[in-house]
Amino acid sequence: TTRTPLMAGNWKMNLDWKQSLSLVEELGEALREVDTTVVEAAVLPPFVNIRTVQTAVEAGDLPISYGAQDISAHESGAYTGEISGSMLTALGCTYVAVGHSERREYHCEGEVETNAKVKAALSVGLSPILCVGEPLEERKAGKQVEYSLAQLEGGIEGLSAEDVAKVVVAYEPVWAIGTGEVATPDDAQEVCAAIRDLVRTKHGDATADALRVLYGGSVKSSNVAELMTKEDVDGALVGGASLKAEEFAKIVGYQD
Ligand code: G3H
Repeated sequence: TTRTPLMAGNWKMNLDWKQSLSLVEELGEALREVDTTVVEAAVLPPFVNIRTVQTAVEAGDLPISYGAQDISAHESGAYTGEISGSMLTALGCTYVAVGHSERREYHCEGEVETNAKVKAALSVGLSPILCVGEPLEERKAGKQVEYSLAQLEGGIEGLSAEDVAKVVVAYEPVWAIGTGEVATPDDAQEVCAAIRDLVRTKHGDATADALRVLYGGSVKSSNVAELMTKEDVDGALVGGASLKAEEFAKIVGYQD
């Protein structure tokens, strides 16, 4: 099986449009040192900066995919403040994060909302990066697999095998996000393998083998290579360390 690793930078609510422009241009420059035919680099800027990123990527023919951090579950119409999937594809987006723990926690997004957003993304040809992962309490109780798989099942409910293969799943234990406390490679592997197993059971070998499963939570250039040695870890969803071009390029170039 050949899954191209994906290193996705979630910029969260950081950078204005000028800073986004500088970062994407610097990243393009830094990625000249990296073989981007064997690993995919992606960035998820705030909505208002996506157009700027598109312009820079197209102008410089940069090897950077991009996408959004959220999507409306609705197609169009009277949904004040929302952004639709077709608006994102019109900007050349490839990905959209769905079900990030910060959306779940601060915006009360549960399984129903997350599942609707996954479907909205797929309906316009976007690959959802479906985030799952347990809080500290669940980890302490040894329930990380059970908890994460319940979120996965909810997120992909009602999808065809063909659609599930287009989903990227990001395992992000909540206690590891922005804390500097990265999961051990074995801990990441345990849940990432369980994610692939569930998909194998429900949707078969081809889908499970195609599915990309990322780890997220305090990933840095100094710990990414070790995580990537694990069979079921196909990349990383990176927050803080994606805000510096050199550092993120090192993460993308973890094999070098
Ligand atoms: O989406 C990214 C994650 O929430 C990880 O954030 O790398 O700052 O820990 P972090």
